[in-house]
Amino acid sequence: MAGNAPCRLGVLVSGSGTNLQAIIDRIISGEIRAEIACVISNKADAYALTRAARHGIPVVVHENSRFPDRRSYDAATVDILRSYSVDLVILAGFMRILTDVMVNAFPNAIMNIHPALLPAFPGLHAQQQALDYGVLFSGCTVHFVDCGTDTGPIILQSVVPVEPDDTEETLSSRIQQSEHQTFAEAIKLFVEGKIQIEGRKVRRLP
Ligand code: GRF
Repeated sequence: MAGNAPCRLGVLVSGSGTNLQAIIDRIISGEIRAEIACVISNKADAYALTRAARHGIPVVVHENSRFPDRRSYDAATVDILRSYSVDLVILAGFMRILTDVMVNAFPNAIMNIHPALLPAFPGLHAQQQALDYGVLFSGCTVHFVDCGTDTGPIILQSVVPVEPDDTEETLSSRIQQSEHQTFAEAIKLFVEGKIQIEGRKVRRLP
């Protein structure tokens, strides 16, 4: 980050963008001192693009179908993020696994939100996995991204109770409420320089 300038976020999305909206709202309120430099979507019809455009944030539709493999797609993503001078990459419902090309281009500067308490229930349908297993508590995890599926160092987690009559939809909706706050807190810690990584452990500085 250059001097005292606000941290520049590059937000990658694939869907509705409620997490993106929560970040936008907290930047507007002054809670997070950052600027969203660009929103990149691999889906042309992602509602997150509409949310971004409504706030005058530059949007880029970057579809993976045009690329022969994941690494070439990621190399092009890195170029876009660099062209917007992004400091921190936020995966806000971006439904793709990153390759080493992205991970090495932004070391310890890519964050993901996952709708379960990792390392439990990584990958897709985490909420249904939690219901099928019969856990009484699930939640969300914000973590740095490495080349695995939801395996990077954990920054913050929030616990959400599972109710006896929960469906995938009701549990997802309850977890999503906690995601918005937890993701914002993690981004705030990062932009304020209050995160230190030692191996797998993420320490919060005073
Ligand atoms: C969230 O549930 C997040 O945990 C998962 O994708 C969903 C994105 O939701 N990775 P939204 O697009 O932010 O509404």
